[in-house]
Amino acid sequence: MPAFRAPGRVNLIGDHTDYNDGFVLPLAVDLECRVDAEERGDGVVRLTSSAFPEPVELPAGGTPEPASVEPRWGRLPAGVVAALARRGRPPVGIEAEVTSTVPVGGGLSSSAAFAVALALALCDAGGLELEPVEVARACQEAELLATGVPCGIMDQLSSLCGRRDAALLIDCRSLEVEPVPLPRELALVVADSGVQRALAETGYAERRAACEAAAARLGLPALRDATPEQVADDPRARHVVSETGRVLDFAEALRRGEVDPLGRLLLESHASLRDDFEVSTPELDALVDAFVAAGALGARLTGAGFGGSVIALVPAARLDAVLASVPAARVVHAVDGAARVAP
Ligand code: GLA
Repeated sequence: MPAFRAPGRVNLIGDHTDYNDGFVLPLAVDLECRVDAEERGDGVVRLTSSAFPEPVELPAGGTPEPASVEPRWGRLPAGVVAALARRGRPPVGIEAEVTSTVPVGGGLSSSAAFAVALALALCDAGGLELEPVEVARACQEAELLATGVPCGIMDQLSSLCGRRDAALLIDCRSLEVEPVPLPRELALVVADSGVQRALAETGYAERRAACEAAAARLGLPALRDATPEQVADDPRARHVVSETGRVLDFAEALRRGEVDPLGRLLLESHASLRDDFEVSTPELDALVDAFVAAGALGARLTGAGFGGSVIALVPAARLDAVLASVPAARVVHAVDGAARVAP
């Protein structure tokens, strides 16, 4: 039976920059969603998952309102089916089993991993060939159709374009992706704050609107184009501009094999997300402090914030101490992006 896998992601640095046409530096991680799918002749997309008691059944040509599909876990797949139908996918049904090791609500893009794995299965069954960037766009659109959250493209693109042992420098304006090798001497460690994050219930859309309003006030297409001087008095916009600079500095340090600036950049990013963009929580702040106290080079919240996870860079020699003292910390590795895994 055809099967497809799609990884979750952690973002090393560059949060709330993607929808401002800025830069991000995520990586695909070794936690993934897998969709085993067989074609059905009756035009029905039927999904089962051990994580949910009820199966999902959708017309393969698309549902008029993905956001009101029941059971709720059918909303994102309904968005994926609809977004692919708009791109010319014929209404071919599938019978699919969904399994995932990406923790839900942990800020590691469980929903992007699910959407991407399902999109690949649906494209395969329907004989639709799309470039990775177009699959990412369809999955981003699916998220909006399913939840109303106007997310950026980072999560979907990272899941599709991941590269083993590398982070991805993504220019969210051109959508160019440059893999940047990660230093072997540093471990990537994530810890879940335990505060479940559901983007629809947070200030994500409000933050995005504030950024767009700031760019409009300056007469710019996006905050990507603003200078630090132009945004000095606006904390939300100031975060976006300073964070974009940090992403480029971080990527440059990686290219040069310089480990020293990385920890400082992570901590500056966290402070900016906490103080200027105001998307951190006391639990996330405490985790960052715990990582640093235990010997991490630096740490920051990763993803949208409002809960979710913290990422830390830890020198190999201090890894055991960090894992022993930070609750729920686990090592992740950068892996290749989404792909077919069976026949
Ligand atoms: C969520 C969104 C992304 C991005 C991050 C913040 O993960 O899905 O597009 O905006 O938040 O960087």
